[in-house]
Amino acid sequence: MLHRTYVLTMLIAHSFMWIDCASKESSENPIAPIEQEGVVEFAPRTYASNCASCHGVDVRAFADRKNWIHGSDKDSLIFVISKGLVDKGMPAFEGVYSQEEIASLADYILEAKEQVGTYAFEDKFDDKAQFLDNGVTYELELVTDAVNIPWGIAQSNDGTLFITDRDGTLTMRSKNGSIEEITGVPSVREKGQGGLLDVSLDPDFDKNQHIYLSYSKYNPKNKEEGTTAVFKGRLEGNRIVDGRDIWVALPYYATQYHFGSRLLWDKDGLLYVSIGDRGKRDINPQDLGLYPGKIHRINSDGSIPSDNPFVGKEGVVASIYSYGHRNPQGLAYDRQNDVIYENEHGPRGGDEINIIEPGRNYGWPVISYGINYNGTVFTTKTAEEGMEQPLHYWVPAIGVCGMAYVDSDRYPEWKGQLMSGSLKYQYLNLTRILDDGMVEETKLFPKIGRLRSILQGTDGYLYIGVEDPGRVYRILRK
Ligand code: HEC
Repeated sequence: MLHRTYVLTMLIAHSFMWIDCASKESSENPIAPIEQEGVVEFAPRTYASNCASCHGVDVRAFADRKNWIHGSDKDSLIFVISKGLVDKGMPAFEGVYSQEEIASLADYILEAKEQVGTYAFEDKFDDKAQFLDNGVTYELELVTDAVNIPWGIAQSNDGTLFITDRDGTLTMRSKNGSIEEITGVPSVREKGQGGLLDVSLDPDFDKNQHIYLSYSKYNPKNKEEGTTAVFKGRLEGNRIVDGRDIWVALPYYATQYHFGSRLLWDKDGLLYVSIGDRGKRDINPQDLGLYPGKIHRINSDGSIPSDNPFVGKEGVVASIYSYGHRNPQGLAYDRQNDVIYENEHGPRGGDEINIIEPGRNYGWPVISYGINYNGTVFTTKTAEEGMEQPLHYWVPAIGVCGMAYVDSDRYPEWKGQLMSGSLKYQYLNLTRILDDGMVEETKLFPKIGRLRSILQGTDGYLYIGVEDPGRVYRILRK
């Protein structure tokens, strides 16, 4: 009964369409799990705490999938939950839960499946609404809905937007609203979390038309494997010419998750590339001889800047700028103060915001505020000498994704703040770092959908990319 009341409260809050919570609350479930007759309490509670971070807080949305990888009958569900789908990033829960408990999770999903289509979308996001934050009204302007998973967004000085779709398409939206697909994009390994990832334009794009893409690349020698690579080409009309990979993270792995990856330029024209641990947490992030679990820094031709922190050290990948990262999904730059911000996914709990400095170790998996998805503990340490503390962390994890540092005059009230998306709870997170190091958070646009990408464009507007269904919005301050 308790959380029925809670659901109601949330719906009321939502009907006002705005949230002004400058509190330090960590994100509790905006939608509590539904209660069902005949299903023991265990399943909804376990789903909310152990499955929702990857499958979404509303189990009905999970059960609504059209193509089940493994079949949607009870035996198939029990099999997958027990054994996991290791290469895809689905953990095995056998040994963590009893057979009865796993069966009750399967029942819970099956019952939700029966409800799909019958439940009212009473809490659907209204993108025509006005949103208030600290007395200021904001509106969303739909830029395009001709996208599926808008992973990355970039903008040239003439206002043209470039949007990657994880399925492998790159589109160009001109200022007058016309949309064109760009050809000459590399073929991507669109599996699991992989595909076409970020897009970025050369700081001298007006002169050289160079465009950069990060993507999941097939191992040319073994199609079962992939890794993150950075591709560079020149835009000619609506096609990319002279395209080539300027940087490839080695080695290739069969795993289909934790690719990173964001692209960011600093004021000296150096390019930062993030890559996750590729699901090999005990091998990669702490080993400076391997690429994954790092933030790298390269020149625009892929060569190594001579003042990179590990240049000249034997056995070390010279493009490494910082290490001990799990899966960095956001990079943002405060140009005026030359500060690089990063956000990354923790495991169950422990999403982080970090300030990235050269040569530093951010601790994964030696220190973490999270635990394994299946509830087991892999480290009891949250701090260690020689390892950086996050500026901020979230428990439970919000599924942090995309990032921008706001310094545009278009949003005076947000200046100096960080924007991060929440995939899991589906809102835009505004993080204000106070003088005493404390952090204040505001949740904007609740229930907007899985928020994947954020850009402060060359025109000073903020753009956000959302999934399910795919949309890109421009944020307008009224
Ligand atoms: C770390 C992320 C993660 C967690 C935590 C997680 N899963 Fe998964 N799960 C995945 C991925 C990735 C897949 C495969 C890709 C997909 O279908 O989304 C998957 C697939 C599944 C499938 C198979 C779906 C199909 O199409 O056949 C089921 C069933 C499932 N998960 C149930 C659960 C349950 C129940 C829990 C909690 C006890 C859970 N998962 C926790 C990531 C996760």
